[in-house]
Amino acid sequence: MNILDIITRKKNGESLSYDELKYAFNGYLNGEIPDYQMSALLMAITINGMSMSETISLTDIFIKSGEIYDLHNRMQYVVDKHSTGGVGDSTTLVIGPLCAALGLHMAKMSGRGLGYTGGTIDKLEAIPGFNVLPSIQDFYDQVENIGFAISAQTPNLVPLDKLIYALRDVTGTTESIPLIASSIMSKKIAAGANNILIDIKVGSGALIKTEEDAKQLSKWLIAIGEAYERNVKTIISDMNTPLSFAIGNALEVIEAINVLNGKKCPLLDASLEIAANLLSMAKRIPYEEAYKQAEEAIYSKKALKKFAEFVSNQGGDLANLNVSKRVIPVKAKIDGVIKNIDALGAAKLAQKLGASKMKLDDKIDYSVGIMLKVKKGDIVKRGDLLMYLYVGDTLPKLRNVDFEFINIV
Ligand code: URA
Repeated sequence: MNILDIITRKKNGESLSYDELKYAFNGYLNGEIPDYQMSALLMAITINGMSMSETISLTDIFIKSGEIYDLHNRMQYVVDKHSTGGVGDSTTLVIGPLCAALGLHMAKMSGRGLGYTGGTIDKLEAIPGFNVLPSIQDFYDQVENIGFAISAQTPNLVPLDKLIYALRDVTGTTESIPLIASSIMSKKIAAGANNILIDIKVGSGALIKTEEDAKQLSKWLIAIGEAYERNVKTIISDMNTPLSFAIGNALEVIEAINVLNGKKCPLLDASLEIAANLLSMAKRIPYEEAYKQAEEAIYSKKALKKFAEFVSNQGGDLANLNVSKRVIPVKAKIDGVIKNIDALGAAKLAQKLGASKMKLDDKIDYSVGIMLKVKKGDIVKRGDLLMYLYVGDTLPKLRNVDFEFINIV
């Protein structure tokens, strides 16, 4: 076999066999195939696509590149959720404890932020002392005893995805549906859950920009799940507007706590929907009944108690969560109606304040961010408060255009 033939065959729109894919991808993992040849192959895949059978083969090769955790042999109701990435999306911090309060088990391997979208691990690192990389033994013991644990992806879980993802990020090949599907599903299957809910975010602040692509991705995720006898469900949700009022790491932890305290907002609605779907899938009960149980777990504060247990078990000290004391109000310059709050624009402003990285070696300031005080459809008068900026020691140069993500007409 020869890598040039494989690249050429894909460039010409032909299907690759399991062995050809294995040769190319495992060769890349072993350092035998250089970046430039893998980049060419990824670009050919992005342009010409892959069949379902090629995508399932690639998922299999990804899964077998690392350790496979057989959780469902140890626990009965093992669930997992994945979001394709959004702005102000701290649902994991709500859903994990909520699922634990409902008697489910969630062993969540999470990522860091990618581009403008925030990552759960960055949010948890805002909590002083929180250990994002417990030993595998501690991690699964916590899942068994408390019902929920989060770990940054261990180096042993689908190492091939980590390498390929980094290369896709810098070669314009992130949007390929078969590559996204095998990347997501390989990690979910290797991590061991048998009931998996994938929240496909669509819109300006998301990786997937159109409803059509989201539907396409959904089909592929479900088909891969079927091939591995996993129960997979997808929901498609809007990411043109930030999911929560808070954008920034410590602020999003606080917002998740507010939601666990019963604060009525879109983040609560999204979390209830996902948790109810997982409960209904795992325990095979009707969705409406599962939704009621999920609401009860929030309003009785059972989920909040699980959150506190989860944080303290992983060494976190919530009492010392640091939110910047330098707070700047931003006010409306005209009278009007809030027509839109653009997720991408909000994320860019939060990034400028230091809430996420612009370059690989940037340091995140966990204490900064934005707290929105208005929502789409609100009527505002000139001088009304639109948001608070929580800023760090050095204030970046901000221009009018940085605030135009709140569109008042
Ligand atoms: N999330 C992933 O894990 N992989 C992708 O390729 C896209 C979103």
